Amino acid sequence: MNKITFSICITFTFLFFSAHSAPENAAISQIPGFDGTLPSKHYAGYVTIDENHGKKLYYYYVLSERNPSEDPVVLWLNGGPGCSSFDGFVYEHGPFNFEKTGGLPKLHLNPYTWTKVSNVIYLDSPAGVGLSYSENKTDYITGDIATALDAHKFLLEWFKIYPEYLSNPFFISGESYAGVYVPMLSYEVVKGLDAGVIPTINFKGYMVGNGVADEVFDGNAIVPFAHGMGLISDELYEEVVTVCEGKYYNSTKPDCERALSKVDEDVAGINMYNILEACYHGDISSKISLGKSNLPASFRKLGETERPLPVRTRMFGRAWPFRAPVKPGYVPSWPELLNGAPAVPCTDDVVATIWLNNEEVRKAIHADPINVAGDWVICTDKIAYYSDAGSMIPYHKILTARGYRALIFSGDHDLCVPFTGSEAWTRSLGYQVIDEWRRWWVDDQVAGFIQGYDNGLTFLTIKGSGHTVPEYKPKEALAFYSRWLEGKNI
Ligand SMILES: *[C@@H]1O[C@H](CO)[C@@H](O)[C@H](O)[C@H]1NC(C)=O
Ligand SMILES: *[C@@H]1O[C@H](CO)[C@@H](O)[C@H](O)[C@H]1NC(C)=O
Repeated sequence: MNKITFSICITFTFLFFSAHSAPENAAISQIPGFDGTLPSKHYAGYVTIDENHGKKLYYYYVLSERNPSEDPVVLWLNGGPGCSSFDGFVYEHGPFNFEKTGGLPKLHLNPYTWTKVSNVIYLDSPAGVGLSYSENKTDYITGDIATALDAHKFLLEWFKIYPEYLSNPFFISGESYAGVYVPMLSYEVVKGLDAGVIPTINFKGYMVGNGVADEVFDGNAIVPFAHGMGLISDELYEEVVTVCEGKYYNSTKPDCERALSKVDEDVAGINMYNILEACYHGDISSKISLGKSNLPASFRKLGETERPLPVRTRMFGRAWPFRAPVKPGYVPSWPELLNGAPAVPCTDDVVATIWLNNEEVRKAIHADPINVAGDWVICTDKIAYYSDAGSMIPYHKILTARGYRALIFSGDHDLCVPFTGSEAWTRSLGYQVIDEWRRWWVDDQVAGFIQGYDNGLTFLTIKGSGHTVPEYKPKEALAFYSRWLEGKNI
């Protein structure tokens, strides 16, 4: 081998290796609004999942502040359908607390970020949501199955770009409508593993917070919750149990409907995301402008959060209108619900909206500008979403029976997807109880309750928390999250 050939070989070897680690062009060097030193590396960008359609999913990847090369990689998905995972990044467990300033928010480090103990990928999914988009608008008609297939495609491409994280344990997590995204995507990943799809994802398990799972269990959960929490009387409870025969999700009987309307009346005006929190009605000062978005400009101001720097008064999450669990077929978007349904609580998402629609921020976080990717809105009505996967219970059965660990957690004061439904469906799997209902603790305080089942299934409540657990109880959330990821007792 002559000298020239040898140096070409070296060049090729070098290119080969440099192409197989975190891409430098995805690294984030500075973040508008943040002055300090980042405690870990951040990467972000698009993964094209359909070249012909120009379909691109946006991700933001935050490395662990502890040991990124060994800590788990966790994918995070917010629900909706149609809500951006920047909801989680900005308001729940992301690396920053966002301080409202009137202009561009100020960013401070979040002491309870999940990136203290894990590498987190925030993914905007499906295309059309958050900063993700497609040049072919037919992609915006979508559903559970297409969303899972695309997210799986994303993961395979993503791990090709970041192969050094393939050996880390990998988990999928999310909340609310991600109660559908998470098991569906987990199932796709497992099918891919069975088929020998490359790269091989080191999938270990999944987490769902206040997630929807099943039309019957979720639909039947609200009445017992309202009664147990003291929101309806014993008399009304007895009446509704009798006339509806314990079935509230799908009533067609007039006397059952009448009794359920009384329940509706009693809980109307309560903050459905956290029944302990304030609900402000038509507060002029809470009116916000969302620029060119289709969202209505006025929102009702809801309760305070426990975040060190309160950035919004309530979230938008999903959210079902009361007594409307997800049913097969078209799922109305949040903006649509808001126009027609005055009972649906709203939010102040002004901080995220300002930050993510600032062109300097977009450039810094490798998002396409507004004229390409569109305005960022927390929950979009750009997509037409169909629920087409049915109950998630069969997926949970398959996944847990295959040895994948599952944590189903519930803020126990959420009326939107109440713990009563999640507790009931997890129990319905019929697994043996191996860690019988007990308290779990943070700093010598009871943080909630746990029921551990065989097959790696855990049901966990977070005491006093609403719908978005890491937003209401950031410290407790980081505690159970890190214990569960490490396979310790919670
Ligand atoms: C968009 O995608 C659909 C379905 O694949 C295709 O029929 C259509 O021609 C595409 N439109 C454009 C403008 O490429
Ligand atoms: C709900 O009710 C309708 C009409 O009574 C019925 O056709 C449907 O099967 C029911 N759905 C479930 C999940 O029981």
